[in-house]
Amino acid sequence: MLIKRPAPIPASEITDEPIYRERRRFLGQFALGSGALLLPGMLTADERPPRFDEVAPGPFGTDEGLTSYGDVTSYNNFFEFGTGKEDPKRHAHQLQTRPWSIMVEGHAERTGPIDIEDILRLHPLEERIYRMRCVEAWSMVIPWVGFPLAALLKHAQPTSRAKYVEFTTLHDPEQMPGQRDRRILPWPYVEALRIDEAMHPLTILAVGLYGREMPNQNGAPLRLVVPWKYGFKSIKSIVRIRLLDTQPRTTWHQSAPREYGFYANVNPEVNHPRWNQSRERRIGELRRRTTLPFNGYAEEVAQLYRGMDLHKNY
Ligand code: MTE
Repeated sequence: MLIKRPAPIPASEITDEPIYRERRRFLGQFALGSGALLLPGMLTADERPPRFDEVAPGPFGTDEGLTSYGDVTSYNNFFEFGTGKEDPKRHAHQLQTRPWSIMVEGHAERTGPIDIEDILRLHPLEERIYRMRCVEAWSMVIPWVGFPLAALLKHAQPTSRAKYVEFTTLHDPEQMPGQRDRRILPWPYVEALRIDEAMHPLTILAVGLYGREMPNQNGAPLRLVVPWKYGFKSIKSIVRIRLLDTQPRTTWHQSAPREYGFYANVNPEVNHPRWNQSRERRIGELRRRTTLPFNGYAEEVAQLYRGMDLHKNY
C-alpha cells in the first residue's frame, strides 16, 4: 500500500458539509424508531425502492467534521483498479454494478444467490457517520448509507457451526484490470470476520455515501464497513458470503502475515513495519491526530476481545 498525495479536488465536487448536516438533521426529525423515513401518503419501506437521499441518521454517529465528498471519492484503495490513490476513480466506471447478486454459501439454512434489490429491502437504510482508519496511517470521516450486516446474516440463518463469515470481491479481470497482475495481490480479494464481529451492530453493509448511491471506486454496489478495524478489512464489491466453521485465509494476512493480522483492530500501540500507528493524517487536515484504540469504538467492541492478547492478535 503506497501513499501518494491526493489530487486537488474541483470545488464543484465538494459537498458543503454544513448544508449536508442540516439536511440530515431535518430528515432525522421525521425518522421512525426503526430508522426508516416515511411521510404521509408514501408507500411503506417494503413497497418502495430505496431512496438514498431519504435516509435517516442511524446510531453510533460522530460529530467530527466530515471528509469532503471529493476526497472520499478520489483518494481510494481499490487495487483491482490500480495501486495509485487516484486509479480507482479513473478506472472503476468500467464496473457493471447491475444486475448484481451475492451468493450465500456454507453453514446456513438459506443458501443460494440473493439479488441486490432483495438485499436492499431486508432492512431500512440508515446513515452511519463513521471514522475510517487505514493501516497506511491516514483517516477519514464518512457518512455511509447502509444497514447492519446482521440483517443479511439473520436472513441467511447461520447454523450453530458458523463461526466465521468470509467475504469475496468480484473476480473479473475484464472489468477490473488490476486483477490481470497477480503480483499486486492474489485475486480475488477475500476478507473475513468472526461471527460475533459480523453480527455486531456497528458492522454494516454500505450501499451509498453522502446520501447518494455508492460510487464504484468506493466499492459499489455493496461493501463491508467495520469501523474499529483497519480499512483493509472493509472489503468492496462483494459477490460471495460464506459461513464457515474455521478461520479462513484472508488476502492481506496471507500475503504478509507479519504485517496484516486477521483481526486488524486499530491499535495505536502496535506499529506496522512501515507505518507508526500511534498517529494518523486525517485527509483534509494539516495536523496529525492521535489514533484511538479500536479507532474510538472501544466502548462498543472491546468486550469482544476479552482474554485475548491484542498485541499478538493484531
Ligand atoms: N476491497 C477490495 N476489494 N480491494 C481493495 O483493494 N482496499 C481496502 C478496503 N477494501 C480494498 C478493499 C483498503 S486497504 C482500504 S483502506 C479501504 O478499502 C478503502 O476504502 P475507500 O477507498 O472507500 O476509502
